[in-house]
Amino acid sequence: MNARFEPAGPLRGDYVPPADKSISHRAALFGAMCDEPVPVSGYLDSADTRSTLDAVMTLGAGVEERDGGVLIRGVGLHAPLEATGGLLNVGNAGTLMRLLPGWLAGVPGGVWTLDGDESIRRRPVDRVAEPLRAMGARVEARGGRYPPFTVSGAALQGIDYELPVASAQVKSCVLIAGMLAAGSTTIRERRVSRDHTERMLRRARVPLERDGELLTVSAVDELELDAVAVPGDPSSAAFIVAAALIVPGSRVVVRDVGLNWTRTGFYAIAQRMGAVIVGDLEQPGAEAESEPVGELDVASGPLEGTEVPPDEVPLAIDELTLVALLGAYAEGETVVRGAEELRLKESDRIAGVVDGLRGLGADIEATEDGFAVRGDGSSLRGGTIDARGDHRMAMLGAVAGLASLDGVDVRGMDAAAVSYPDFERDLRALI
Ligand code: S3P
Repeated sequence: MNARFEPAGPLRGDYVPPADKSISHRAALFGAMCDEPVPVSGYLDSADTRSTLDAVMTLGAGVEERDGGVLIRGVGLHAPLEATGGLLNVGNAGTLMRLLPGWLAGVPGGVWTLDGDESIRRRPVDRVAEPLRAMGARVEARGGRYPPFTVSGAALQGIDYELPVASAQVKSCVLIAGMLAAGSTTIRERRVSRDHTERMLRRARVPLERDGELLTVSAVDELELDAVAVPGDPSSAAFIVAAALIVPGSRVVVRDVGLNWTRTGFYAIAQRMGAVIVGDLEQPGAEAESEPVGELDVASGPLEGTEVPPDEVPLAIDELTLVALLGAYAEGETVVRGAEELRLKESDRIAGVVDGLRGLGADIEATEDGFAVRGDGSSLRGGTIDARGDHRMAMLGAVAGLASLDGVDVRGMDAAAVSYPDFERDLRALI
């Protein structure tokens, strides 16, 4: 499906983003590991998070829809799990594909094959296969690296593992396997990534300790998770916020948005570029059990270029294409470094954003590990952008269209439904 986004007048009003995708995946998975039912309010209704509900149901958990949320009837952490020998379809959901094997690996005698759509088949799983093998599981992947792949569970042993990439998905996978393994498992995380797993596991009374870069988890018998309330997704909200920052005269108040500092790197980067974003972002470095939620008051204004260093990349990983767009509207140069992981997302987002924004008139180039974009404070011309089957690229094109001189045609706008089915409606409602 193609969609056209014409230059728009200011965005104005109150806006409530959809529920957080990362936290929804975790609520379903950790809920399924509990013995007692877990009510999840505000579970995200999207293609990705439906894949996770389908997967936990296939494994034997129950899922009931309940006024704006779901009730997960878990099978317990150490359950034998159903559908052994069968296929689990993860659809387009990278988070499901990387987290679930941590659980399956710890079920001795169980064998499952995971597969998904065309995009997921291009995304590497060796990053989770390697630590799971070191813990005692068998994992066989197509070409040694890609889905479909088969996980054969075993009695796991704890390990000391240094994350080779800053990835919350890999960290979470090893933490889950660590709960099922004998002894303790220690992960060294050199660059901090989103910590929703740590927060939720602590709430589920899992002994989890952080000492600087080291994160240690020990074998546990059960997870005890009370009700989970999923906050608004700061990554989804970032697309609306970016539009409000570059469409002149805009002023939007974002309500009920998650403000966990490991997710709000985009907002901090934008503030450094001069953006007017007022709100109670969580203090960097904070360690908590709960997920902070609050309000952001956003207004358009002049921007200036900035440098995004590698340590900041995991904190803004899903919003870096928006940093490029802001960079195109800013005075001066914006450079993102240490972001080679972007090539392994739902699409190659370095190629996508460079080709896409250049096609709209931006002065942007790819580097080995990121991109550099130069702006002079004027608007992009417009044109056509291809979403390449990637939800975040589709939304980027829409935002670029509203702020452009001639409008933007987005090819494959329907991809947005992976994380944000009502994106177009919400965006247009603010104009
Ligand atoms: C996610 C972690 C990030 C992010 C993805 C969701 C998560 O991936 O890009 O959209 O929920 O843990 P990586 O951990 O692979 O960087």
